[in-house]
Amino acid sequence: LNKGNGVKGLSEMGLESLPKIYIQPLEERMCGTKNMSHESIPIIDMSKWDDPKVAEAICEAAEKWGFFQIINHGVPIEVLENVKEATHQFFRLPAEEKRKYLKEFSPSNNVRFGSSFSPKAEKALEWKDYLSLFYVSEDEASALWPAVCKDQVLEYMKRSEIVIRKLLDVLLKNLNVTEIDETKESLLMGSKRTNLNYYPICPNPELTVGIGRHSDVSTLTLLLQDDIGGLYVRGNNDSWIHVPPVSGSIVINVGDALQIMSNGRYKSIEHRVIANGSNNRISVPIFINPRPSDKISPFPEVLASGEKAVYKEVLYSDYVRHFFRKAHDGKKTIDLAK
Ligand code: SIN
Ligand code: FE2
Repeated sequence: LNKGNGVKGLSEMGLESLPKIYIQPLEERMCGTKNMSHESIPIIDMSKWDDPKVAEAICEAAEKWGFFQIINHGVPIEVLENVKEATHQFFRLPAEEKRKYLKEFSPSNNVRFGSSFSPKAEKALEWKDYLSLFYVSEDEASALWPAVCKDQVLEYMKRSEIVIRKLLDVLLKNLNVTEIDETKESLLMGSKRTNLNYYPICPNPELTVGIGRHSDVSTLTLLLQDDIGGLYVRGNNDSWIHVPPVSGSIVINVGDALQIMSNGRYKSIEHRVIANGSNNRISVPIFINPRPSDKISPFPEVLASGEKAVYKEVLYSDYVRHFFRKAHDGKKTIDLAK
């Protein structure tokens, strides 16, 4: 199956109809959703980030929606534009170049080109290609990441670091965690992964998904999307809320690890991406994660007032392995910590 050109290769063959393996069960398709919400997730201006009102808005959004967008965050627009352009450049490479990063050929487990999410576990595939880059060190990235995108991705990761620290600082203070020592720093942001996602034009978008319902396993995710749209987040009463592209913004969402560490105070919310019949779409999430060897559980500060722990301790590498072993199936991974 056109190894090396992924779903994009299928899309460019000009198929008249969607191959069967991509047809999702009715309940997973967006057209089966009656409940579209007209609500929207907050857009938070971070230009005055030391204003207590900004901190309040961030914490409230993380508690209520689990998702928000930030603007005036300090990452230069040019850096964002460059990483989007680099994403297009990577997927534009000839199949022979991309196939070098398929699981069976990649020089490292930390660099992976693929399609769908977990093809071995999925009954129906997702209409999506990705390049996943697990960050170990600048040296490793320079040596192993694809030349067309490594500098741009590294620059984006570096420039977003300060935003990540600001957000975590505010969110943790609100949990009575006033000092982020080395142990906590590892738990909160000990490892990082950046994905370049490509959702090609789909011949029957109503029959499939770009990415199925899931919540992220991260502490926080920073998501850069282009101007196409199609990301939906779970709202009240099982509705779906669209996350509209906002020029220059970064979408932030709470992941399962932070939900666990905050003992459920911050919500890791289910989301998904529809397939699109007329436009290719890209997105670039940076996943801020605990280290694989970390054990995560509710922070003692959160439980200090006598609150009962909702989650038990789990080894983060077990958590992640469990997530990747199954198809996107909503928010079920967190059951491992119950
Ligand atoms: C994701 O949830 O991993 C991707 C979201 C997006 O492409 O907007
Ligand atoms: Fe996600």
